[in-house]
Parts: sequence; C-alpha cells; structure tokens
Amino acid sequence: MKLQNKVAVITGGNSGIGLGIAEEFKAEGASGVISGRDTKTLNEAENKLSPSFIAVQSDVTSMSDLEKLYQKTTERFGKIDILVANAGIARLQPVDQVDEDTYDLQFDINVKGIFFTIQKALPHLKDGASVIVMASTAGHKGFQGASIYCATKAAVRSFARTFSAELLPRKIRVNAISPGFIETPAYYKFGLPEDMVPQAIEGFKKLTPLDRSGTVNEIGRVAVFLASEDSSFMLGEEVVVDGGMITL
Ligand SMILES: NC(=O)c1ccc[n+]([C@@H]2O[C@H](COP(=O)([O-])OP(=O)(O)OC[C@H]3O[C@@H](n4cnc5c(N)ncnc54)[C@H](OP(=O)(O)O)[C@@H]3O)[C@@H](O)[C@H]2O)c1
Repeated sequence: MKLQNKVAVITGGNSGIGLGIAEEFKAEGASGVISGRDTKTLNEAENKLSPSFIAVQSDVTSMSDLEKLYQKTTERFGKIDILVANAGIARLQPVDQVDEDTYDLQFDINVKGIFFTIQKALPHLKDGASVIVMASTAGHKGFQGASIYCATKAAVRSFARTFSAELLPRKIRVNAISPGFIETPAYYKFGLPEDMVPQAIEGFKKLTPLDRSGTVNEIGRVAVFLASEDSSFMLGEEVVVDGGMITL
C-alpha cells in the first residue's frame, strides 16, 4: 500500500486515464476526490471507487468551481497530499481549418485549466505534496491535424518545471506524465466521424513499436510511482509512457 492514508484530487477522474489513476490510487490505499463536468459519468465513477473516492462536479475553466472542489475536498478529507491535474481535451483540425473557438477551447481547458487547477490548490496542499500534470507525447512530435493540442501539451510539460522551481520552499514536487496512445473515450471526441475512429485507432497502434495502445491502468501505475515516496528525488521531470513511440 504505497499511498495509505494519502488524500488525492484527480481532475477528469470520471473517464479514461483519470479514472484509471483513481482505480490504482484506491488499490494503494488513497482516498479523496475525482472531478469532471458530466454528472452521469461522475456518478458511475463514484460508485466504482466507493467508499474511497467521492465525485465533485467542477469545471477546470471556472475559478469558482475550482474553489468549490478544494473546499469540498478539505471539508471531507483535510489537506491534500496528491493532486493530479489530468482533465484535458483534443480536437483534430488541419492547420488551415482551425477556428478561433476550437483554439480557445483547447487552450482554456488544457493550459489555463491546468494552471489554475494547481494555483487554486496551493493553500490546500500539504508541504511535500506530489503534483502530477498530464502532458503528452504530442508535446514532442508534430502530429498532423493536432497543432493546437500539441502546443497545449508542450505548455503543460513546461508547468512541471516552473511550478517545481517556485514551490521548492515547500518541497512540493511537480512532475509530468506524457502518455502515448491510450485507448479512452477521448478518441470519440476528437471530431472525427464515428466510423473513422476504429481506423484511426489502428493507425495509432502502427505508430507504436509495441504494436498496441496503452491501458489507463498502465498510466495509473506510473502515477502511483510519481505520487509516492518511490519518486522522492524527482521533480520538474517528465515520464514518457508510450510503448516506445518517440524513442525507438
Ligand atoms: N488518451 C490518450 O491517448 C492520451 C494521450 C496523451 C495524453 N492524454 C491526456 O490525458 C488526459 C485524459 O484524457 P483521456 O484520454 O482520459 O480522455 P477522456 O476519457 O475524454 O477524459 C478526459 C477527462 O477530462 C475531463 N474534462 C474535460 N474538460 C473538462 C473541464 N473543462 N473541466 C473538468 N473536467 C474536464 C472529462 O470529464 P467531463 O467530460 O465530465 O468534463 C474527462 O474526465 C488529457 O489531458 C489528455 O490530453 C491522453
């Protein structure tokens, strides 16, 4: 039990990678709060993670929602040991077709959302806390049709460095996870026609030397490592979990 008695907050914990992280945290003895916007998936995830985790509806682009998230967390569990700033979206559009609304949407959720998720948590984090931000291999590569998403994830990776530097006096460690292709509901939200998604998934597998997508629990176990004392000498770092895609 690597996270016994630890209090965790996971944004976007009602789906995909965030839910996989919450499952692994629960198995290691943590409790706390998952957040998201959609009530149906929040309720389903809460039932799955009960009694360790509760769900709080909270939009990462709303300052009052973030304040509500931390108020509810601390009222119920006390101060926070682990924060996973995971909520994010991707929309695929060729560079000449990117519209202003889709540009703003991705930067609002993926960059502004992650920044203020951490900033608003600061008064509620314990000294020595572990913060994990969800970046992506998209921050390393030039994927066609993903110019805005890739740029948002490069920004997120940068936050791990600057927040770690600024939070040194409190020994709060901020590290990034950069997953490769992990099959989640996100694939159906890219903006591709639904019948093209299976073909896209096959294409993603071909880009991965291990010849398969990763699983949300494979990301969850890396998150356990970064959240626990096993990674106590790591800060400002990025762990790439991508089946060898960007290295081999
Ligand atoms: N899947 C991959 O291959 C992959 C690879 C690299 C990085 N990532 C990153 O991993 C993270 C999770 O993605 P996923 O693949 O697990 O996708 P997902 O299943 O679609 O999950 C995204 C999560 O983010 C939440 N979310 C989105 N906008 C939000 C907002 N404004 N406020 C609060 N929550 C919000 C969603 O909940 P609601 O819809 O209820 O708000 C959902 O729980 C993202 O940051 C993504 O960029 C994914």
